[in-house]
Amino acid sequence: MKIVVIQGPNLNMLGIREQQVYGSMKLEQIHAQMKEFATQSEIEIEFFQSNLEGEIVDKIQECYGDADGIIINAAAYTHTSIAIRDAISAVNLPTIEVHISNIHRREEFRKQNMIAPVCTSSIVGFGPFGYHLAMVGMIQIMNELRAVQEMQKQVSEAK
Ligand code: DQA
Repeated sequence: MKIVVIQGPNLNMLGIREQQVYGSMKLEQIHAQMKEFATQSEIEIEFFQSNLEGEIVDKIQECYGDADGIIINAAAYTHTSIAIRDAISAVNLPTIEVHISNIHRREEFRKQNMIAPVCTSSIVGFGPFGYHLAMVGMIQIMNELRAVQEMQKQVSEAK
């Protein structure tokens, strides 16, 4: 199983930007913890960060046929990007969006979310731990998908 983790604009500034909102962990530290858990769980994991909308769209498209699931924090693009939403919808992979902060209890403009309706689920407000929860959630989704596929196979073989 391969998971691609996509990080949007300004997340490369974690540990520096608004620590009272996002905490003190750097993106590299978050990724190191995710990598450790992935290795323990025998999951292949790839990390990608960009400040550019088009590069994020390209990366999502590259996941088609290459990854089994996407974990994405589209950051500020969450609230504006129809292009990222359409890309997630196009590749049609299990996708979990993560927000470090609780976007529902912040400024009004953060309540608009273009991405959530095309994602499998959203994890918000857990701080960097949300990325770990997303990985656990992705493993669960994959196990359920595998069980459904196995059942469908048995049904078609019994016919
Ligand atoms: C964020 C929330 C967004 O509103 C903001 O623009 C970010 C980070 C979060 O992880 O809490 O850059 O996605």
